[in-house]
Amino acid sequence: MKILIVGTGYVGTTTGLIFCEMGHQVTGLDLDTHKLKALKAGKLYFYEPGLEELLSRHVAAKNIFFTKNTKKAVKENDIIFICVGTPKEADGSANLTYVKNVAESIGKYMNKSKIIVTKSTVPVGTAELVEKWVAGKQTAPIPFDVVSNPEFLREGTALQDALNPDRIIIGATSEEARNVMKELYQDFHCPIVATNPKASEMIKYAANSFLAMKISFINELARLCDDLNINVNDVSKGIGLDQRIGPQFLHAGMGFGGSCFPKDVNALIQTAKEQGQPLSILERVVKVNEEQPLYFIEKIKQALGGKLENKTIAVLGLSFKANTDDTRESPSLILIERLLAEQVVVKVHDPIVKLGSAYQYHTIEETVSGADAVVLGTDWDDYKNLDWANLKLTMKQPFIFDGRNMLDKENIVALGFHYLGVANH
Ligand code: UGA
Repeated sequence: MKILIVGTGYVGTTTGLIFCEMGHQVTGLDLDTHKLKALKAGKLYFYEPGLEELLSRHVAAKNIFFTKNTKKAVKENDIIFICVGTPKEADGSANLTYVKNVAESIGKYMNKSKIIVTKSTVPVGTAELVEKWVAGKQTAPIPFDVVSNPEFLREGTALQDALNPDRIIIGATSEEARNVMKELYQDFHCPIVATNPKASEMIKYAANSFLAMKISFINELARLCDDLNINVNDVSKGIGLDQRIGPQFLHAGMGFGGSCFPKDVNALIQTAKEQGQPLSILERVVKVNEEQPLYFIEKIKQALGGKLENKTIAVLGLSFKANTDDTRESPSLILIERLLAEQVVVKVHDPIVKLGSAYQYHTIEETVSGADAVVLGTDWDDYKNLDWANLKLTMKQPFIFDGRNMLDKENIVALGFHYLGVANH
């Protein structure tokens, strides 16, 4: 099948390459010339482990090619995946401008029947809007289907996630479109949930919101554990072994970040408000998440004698989680901003992210040297097994604040550090 992917971000590029792997011919459409230039050369313009290798292989084999010619791309392909961004509006709702532009272009240039698939995370009811936007620009009444097929891949593990999904959701109104989609995914060995577009759109928001809720649950519980001197990691393990709960997304820390959870939970809250059916539980999830970095900073402040002013603090990690260069809504950046506001001398390091700022250092050693404290802001493997004994010798004071509960507390304490995690007692 000839597949067009519109939007070449994490989701679009990964999806396109997965379909190449399945033997399809793929076109990637994007209007950004810089991105296209890189992709055409088989180079990723963002960091995602393993993906560039696949890209260069399929570019060389001519299984995928990239263009900005919308008209030609729409005409030549049968299935069109919309993978453009849906950024957060000021009120928390999703901005559908890019989706609308794509839908209208498809309508304008459509020459034969197409299946239009929304893979971007879009609010409930968007498939109906897409249908309207496409039809509104058609010059002749050519039939088409709009299908919702949300993506569940994570940044940092995009390739494995997309190749081995837990499930595939197909929200279609016609039997014909549903069958084409099933055929497209025939080589994936996982359950397929066939439903209507609205339910499919809701599944995506519900999944992200539920995972975010698990994180906020354990983070708020961690604060109580802190007061009661309980190790929250043991609690996560103890409840996670209950198969009805599951061990994942119960890792306490400074809160969730990234381009998805904060945006999607807010968008679902907004949808619920519009319906007059508030999702108060999710409103609390957002609140707990906003409080979490501030809670951790307060702990740091107390440990450092109640005053942060003029202290030198080394922050290790800038991205919102390990294995990505994405810093959107990163808890680490929220922490840094706050520390700077408290007149702290901040020094930062990240293995991949380059802030281009004067206070970022090339090596961990340079960053930590002279610091009163080290804060672990991102759970990069690079920070797990550092030579803390030697690093300690270069520090002004031996404080480690583990915002990701990633270090072995006993080892660190044995080296003479004052260690503080998120209820990591
Ligand atoms: C998330 C979902 O996990 C994907 O299934 C979904 O496809 C994606 O959003 C999306 O909608 O596009 P992602 O944002 O890449 O993926 O990252 P996650 O691995 O889910 O982590 C999100 C945040 O939660 C990170 O800041 C991470 O550090 C934090 N987290 C995660 C915790 O604080 N504790 C945990 O136990 C797990």
